[in-house]
Amino acid sequence: MTLNFKTVLSVETSCDDTSVAIVRHDGYVVAQCSASQDLEHAPYGGVVPEIASRNHSVALIPLIEQTLKKAELTFDDIDGFTVTNRPGLIGSLIVGLMTVKTLAQSLNKPYIGVNHLEGHILAPFLKDDLYQPSSDFGYPYVALAVSGGHSSIYLVKGAGDYTIVGTTKDDAAGEAYDKFAKMLGLGYPGGVQVDRLAVTGNPTSYDFPRGLIREKSLMMSFSGLKSASHRLLQKMSPEQILSEQAHLCASFQEAVVETLIAKITLAARVFKTKNIAITGGVSANSKLRLEAENLKSQGFQIVIPPLRYCTDNAAMIGYAGILQLNRDLKSDLGMGPSSASYENDFKVALRENLNDNKKAEKPS
Ligand code: KG4
Ligand code: ZN
Repeated sequence: MTLNFKTVLSVETSCDDTSVAIVRHDGYVVAQCSASQDLEHAPYGGVVPEIASRNHSVALIPLIEQTLKKAELTFDDIDGFTVTNRPGLIGSLIVGLMTVKTLAQSLNKPYIGVNHLEGHILAPFLKDDLYQPSSDFGYPYVALAVSGGHSSIYLVKGAGDYTIVGTTKDDAAGEAYDKFAKMLGLGYPGGVQVDRLAVTGNPTSYDFPRGLIREKSLMMSFSGLKSASHRLLQKMSPEQILSEQAHLCASFQEAVVETLIAKITLAARVFKTKNIAITGGVSANSKLRLEAENLKSQGFQIVIPPLRYCTDNAAMIGYAGILQLNRDLKSDLGMGPSSASYENDFKVALRENLNDNKKAEKPS
């Protein structure tokens, strides 16, 4: 295969992080610069789409200049562009997409619109001067992508070959974290606050439900956990909640992490692979990282990318995009943003009841 695209400049603006990266065809990240909008959205307890898109339009061009400077490159060194165009907030996606289309047209270089979730799925292959994944890790693998908007398990047989085999029936894991943090008055984004407080708490203090954990199924559910937390906190006084904060967070975290670990290891067994990747914002969680590391003693190959490639970032979009550009795929200027994935981005074969499905799929 001739590698026509050796280096791309990549843009990610699908939600509230503005990120730009320069990525090589082998996943090496030459430079990445990102701007978080957490402080702007915090007063509202969640992402406000209008504020997100306005901030992207202010931050993006300076970030592109900064990234080129950090990489000590110019546009002459860039073979093409990659940008998230789906799924995400339309107003946010438009900013990145229009900017990249303008660059592509004015510099006469190709570009490709990338699915944000494909970026998360391929993030395990990113590397830089400080980090590189184990060389034993490879296809096929099962990937748990857990963030504020998504909690799904994918069977990944190769670049471009993704099957959704499990997903949440209701809330995403990050959403559950954020809602729990809100109930405790911890502010937004809540996952990191719950994680911080949990460190000093006793995880067995409260018995939170582990949704669908005992079911032979790759489906997940976090809404029962949310309702149980709500009921529990309603019975407690504000003083009690404050004094029990650490124990509540530790117990909540235990329930989420136990569920996620149970589901991804079940998926690995069902598809007879030792390779597990965990990505998305929730994979920043200290307990999840620890428990995933512990799986290595059971013979699993685990990759959890460093935080800069777990949370929303342009590097993962760059890698997913450059693989496609090198397969002769590219987008035309008519491409628009989409709030949802395209129909053929992922195959869907949910393993809702593994008892009905004795013939576990073999990775080919
Ligand atoms: O992937 P991401 O940056 O954005 C999308 O939602 O796409 O994920 C953000 C989510 C939020 O729900 C946030 O609370 C959660 O990831 N999160 C965490 C931690 N850090 C971020 N959840 C648990 N523990 C953390 N340390
Ligand atoms: Zn994401």
